[in-house]
Amino acid sequence: MKDLNGVLWLQAVSSLLAASQLVVAQPQTNTQKANANRTLSVGYILFPGFEPLDVFGPLEMIFGMSYYYNMTLATIAETPGPIPARPPLHRMAPDMPPMDLSYMINPQVVATHSFETAPKLDILLVPGGTGNVALEQNNNTKVEDFVRARFPELEYLLSVCTGAITLAKSGVLEGRRATSNKAAWAQTQTHGKNVTWVPSARWVVDGKVWTSSGVAAGMDMAYAFLKELYGDHPLDTYMNNVEYAPHTDATWDPFSVVHNVPGANKTHSLLDCVGPVGYSE
Ligand SMILES: *[C@@H]1O[C@H](CO)[C@@H](O)[C@H](O)[C@H]1NC(C)=O
Ligand SMILES: *[C@@H]1O[C@H](CO)[C@@H](O)[C@H](O)[C@H]1NC(C)=O
Ligand SMILES: *[C@@H]1O[C@H](CO)[C@@H](O)[C@H](O)[C@H]1NC(C)=O
Ligand SMILES: *[C@@H]1O[C@H](CO)[C@@H](O)[C@H](O)[C@H]1NC(C)=O
Ligand SMILES: *[C@@H]1O[C@H](CO)[C@@H](O)[C@H](O)[C@H]1NC(C)=O
Repeated sequence: MKDLNGVLWLQAVSSLLAASQLVVAQPQTNTQKANANRTLSVGYILFPGFEPLDVFGPLEMIFGMSYYYNMTLATIAETPGPIPARPPLHRMAPDMPPMDLSYMINPQVVATHSFETAPKLDILLVPGGTGNVALEQNNNTKVEDFVRARFPELEYLLSVCTGAITLAKSGVLEGRRATSNKAAWAQTQTHGKNVTWVPSARWVVDGKVWTSSGVAAGMDMAYAFLKELYGDHPLDTYMNNVEYAPHTDATWDPFSVVHNVPGANKTHSLLDCVGPVGYSE
């Protein structure tokens, strides 16, 4: 682990540790010990019409952990260069008129690699977004082809939101449990063969495949994922410095109730949410 000195945005750490009842870091697993001393190759898929937070939510946390642990990042798209988040012209359903969203603002992320030039990857993240619909309507299968081709080499494959549909189309969810955005649940169900879509899940882990519910749920999955990779510390301190309180119960998904998903577990109160990590009462 690196020295914290000289980094302004982490200077709050020592006072926070001193002043708080932060739970002491748990003993590390063998995976966590091994990961502390290796360089992980991370890939993030982009396509026109990706959902910004699907990318930037987990990326914020991966970025933060790359301060402590060596990682590389490849942002991967059909063509390297700026990839627009604004959805391209598409129809919400084949019998509906084309949706022209060119009046929306257009944040862009630069893809560093194409599907052909992407390096060997340990971890691949696949966001969702309306652009998926456009790819499907253009019969563009390049994202799911890439996921299928790279799946054997990956240690972990993660999707956020309707990125799970891409995973389903690539075939890697066959025989697995998975989840996706509860606001688009009916659409999700039509994809993939022999996929057990889990309604009451903030995220689902099946082997090396992690799938999360809608958009912001990607941050909850990323917290659990980074914890598995690296342990509680310095992750919990980082979470509290960015002031995000992740859901830590993968099986409690209030949005499965909000969106009236069949099979949603309604035993919790919708107001039963979470506080900062690392604290007991
Ligand atoms: C990681 O590498 C450092 C420096 O080479 C070494 O001191 C430390 O023991 C290693 N940690 C583990 C868990 O292997
Ligand atoms: C991390 O990368 C730096 C710079 O390349 C290198 O000096 C260091 O040994 C690496 N540490 C580990 C644990 O791989
Ligand atoms: C996509 O494939 C379908 C079925 O083969 C075809 O009807 C449709 O015209 C194709 N769409 C485009 C944009 O090529
Ligand atoms: C579906 O997946 C389950 C594992 O979840 C497996 O036991 C079963 O054989 C699969 N069924 C088919 C038809 O592939
Ligand atoms: C529903 O959630 C409650 C509280 O977490 C849990 O005890 C129960 O087992 C869940 N029910 C099902 C069917 O998963």
